[in-house]
Amino acid sequence: MFSKKNIILLLASAATLLVTPAYAAKVYQVATDAAYAPFESVNDKKEIVGFDMDVIKAVAAKAGIEVQLHNTPWEGIFATLSSGDRDLVASSVTITPERKLSMDFSDPYFEAKQLIAVGKKSTLTNFASLKGKKVGVQTGTTGDEIVQKLMGKTSPNIKRFESTPLAIKELLNGGVDAVVADNGVVINFIANNKSSSLKTIDDATFAKEFYGFAVKKGNKDLVEKLNKGIAAIKADGTYDKIHKKYFGN
Ligand code: ARG
Repeated sequence: MFSKKNIILLLASAATLLVTPAYAAKVYQVATDAAYAPFESVNDKKEIVGFDMDVIKAVAAKAGIEVQLHNTPWEGIFATLSSGDRDLVASSVTITPERKLSMDFSDPYFEAKQLIAVGKKSTLTNFASLKGKKVGVQTGTTGDEIVQKLMGKTSPNIKRFESTPLAIKELLNGGVDAVVADNGVVINFIANNKSSSLKTIDDATFAKEFYGFAVKKGNKDLVEKLNKGIAAIKADGTYDKIHKKYFGN
């Protein structure tokens, strides 16, 4: 009855059971506007890399979930959550009260603020001095929002670009007098383009911002998983390691 052949068959099917999960695990689809070094960018090998990507991968590993990254334009990035095309946005997204009305956020994982970039010879001194000047921003970012507050929503002097690098390019070309964007991205650009002759202006009125991972409104399950993962990488030193890799000490 227990012939050699039967035993082999039995062992083989037991082994299959062990390695085959009862159901295919869900792969969470991640949207990121990968034109935002050092947080998210595309490298020579066409891989999406950066601080946010390292963080979300480490968070996912701790939460026991799988993630797949997709380079997704910033404009419309939040609509991919409501449409169900993407499960989360990991894209240096500032948690704001307005955004909280239409999406949910994980706990914060990074602190940032706005920073002004101008040409080295610029005579602009602070945020208020930008009024009446041409200011470049990435459409729909928190930089766009604060410049609207200073100059009015419909001001023709606000020049909107689909990415932050395009706004900075326009500053280098002299098409705008200043760019307002997240500090980390502005600092990274200047550090990597030493010949670009830009300088930064910090302004005391700029408020602290906190990046979080955005999910579809009501997706409590995913928020819980992400928060668990964030807490775990903060507790075991993984977060600090990633932070050090991108920002030094
Ligand atoms: N922190 C800013 C915001 O949430 C800008 C984020 C832009 N992110 C990007 N990957 N382009 O509005």
